[in-house]
Amino acid sequence: MRTEICHLADGEGKTASLAGWVANKRTGKGLVFLELRDGSGFCQCVVDENNVNPEVFEAAKKAGLATSLRLEGEVVKDDRQVGGYELQVQKVEVLQFVEDYPISNKAHGVDFLLEKRHLWLRSKRQWAVMRIRSRTKFAIHQFFQDRGFIQTDSPIFTGNACEGTTTLFATDFYGEEAFLSQSGQLYAEATAMALGKVYTFGPTFRAEKSKTRRHLSEFWMIEPEMAFYDLDMNMDLIEEFIRYIVTDIYTTHRAELEVLGRDLTLFENIGTTFPRITYDEAVEILHGKRDVNGENALETLEKDLEAVKQGIADRKKDIEEREAAIAAGGMKKGKVNFNRNKIDTLKNEVKDLEEKERNIPQWLESARTFQHGADLGGSDETIITRLFNTPVMVYKWPKDIKAFYMKRDEEDDNYVKGVDCLAPEGFGEIVGGAEREDSLELLEQRIKEHDLPMEAFEWYLDLRKYGSVPHAGFGLGFERMVMWLTNVPHIRETIPFPRYYGRLFP
Ligand code: 4AD
Ligand code: MG
Repeated sequence: MRTEICHLADGEGKTASLAGWVANKRTGKGLVFLELRDGSGFCQCVVDENNVNPEVFEAAKKAGLATSLRLEGEVVKDDRQVGGYELQVQKVEVLQFVEDYPISNKAHGVDFLLEKRHLWLRSKRQWAVMRIRSRTKFAIHQFFQDRGFIQTDSPIFTGNACEGTTTLFATDFYGEEAFLSQSGQLYAEATAMALGKVYTFGPTFRAEKSKTRRHLSEFWMIEPEMAFYDLDMNMDLIEEFIRYIVTDIYTTHRAELEVLGRDLTLFENIGTTFPRITYDEAVEILHGKRDVNGENALETLEKDLEAVKQGIADRKKDIEEREAAIAAGGMKKGKVNFNRNKIDTLKNEVKDLEEKERNIPQWLESARTFQHGADLGGSDETIITRLFNTPVMVYKWPKDIKAFYMKRDEEDDNYVKGVDCLAPEGFGEIVGGAEREDSLELLEQRIKEHDLPMEAFEWYLDLRKYGSVPHAGFGLGFERMVMWLTNVPHIRETIPFPRYYGRLFP
């Protein structure tokens, strides 16, 4: 019977049969170390020339990366291994030899990996990301189901623009123009009036011809909508929700976070109350006119820049010293390899730091000159969140940069009761939400002001004609959340087959 690697602990000291693929291979004198992966985990399998017959040893030697095979052997505890166990191999049955797997364990450029996304998914990092993605989805359902929310689905073909007309994908729906949904919200508002507290979890589409690390053309969104909720209750729910997901991943997926080298400080801080600041306060922070816990955003950024410059200088010196030591000769081969790898790593770090060195002055400039009334850009969000060690909620936004359905602030008609939740560490907006306009007259007025076609919203206006109530909701960008949890450099790594401007294959 086949044992899955994740269950090896149950078979300690016994014989187990594993089946999987070669993820890595090293050879030593009379030994082959195969790192086997089977989807459930990774396990080092040791093939010792003295313990197996010659054909088995030859097969192990010949097996290249991605070779599929069955292995039988004794399960031995080894704390140095990822899963804590190792297999002392007795038998090998190769299902398919592979000798020319295109992805090796050396560093490949990201463009190449994206072309080979169907294979890249097999790497340990991607394995960790996809497992966290799966668990995050589960945790989200659990959170809402435990709290009495009903999951309802919004259509994907729609006649309405929910989030403005500039990012719509148009399709031909039996001769009629239809759009791929930008958001399930408007329909969730309808189901909330039937079921009270609902959430949708579906694919959404935005035609954004921008190639940023935070934008996909096809992404998944979770959109809760609650009758009788106001903006404050909405923010309370966002906070509880984000904290729940982070805590769940932190407790259930520590091994995957370790594979990713994820810094866990923020996970440890997630119990702290998320600060809530108004848009106006956010602008004051950007202008350096408002300090947070004694820290000034612009001064902090200037210090960051100094640290970046120092970091570059330190690494360049380290690289030079290692290169000189190698050039001097007399170093053992193993140590030379170790140093060469270290130099590669340092060079990559220098590249990243140099990018920061170029970016930070631009960020400073755009913060200093930020115009009140403009939307926050990625760098502005980074600067604001840099001062906090939890997500931050920015609420009370200028009406002109937010959607038509947001309710105006009772005290100042120039503002709406919207909220964005910004994740720290440079990730920025993960949630956008609002209390909704519940007056029929005002909503009709907004639709006209936003130049939207009234006919397409007739059904939506019915919700304000027949038993309108205060209500609120928000949308969490699922891939943005996974990106933050896993700390991957680009959102395209958080979804198996990303779709964004310029990428339709594989
Ligand atoms: O802020 P947005 O546009 O809000 C809405 O769509 C509302 N209707 C949600 C609601 O109140 N029910 O989008 C919500 C979230 C963003 O905060 C972001 O996390 C994510 O969706 N998002 C994207 N994620 C990846 N790629 C894109 N192009 C995204 N655009 C938005
Ligand atoms: Mg938004």
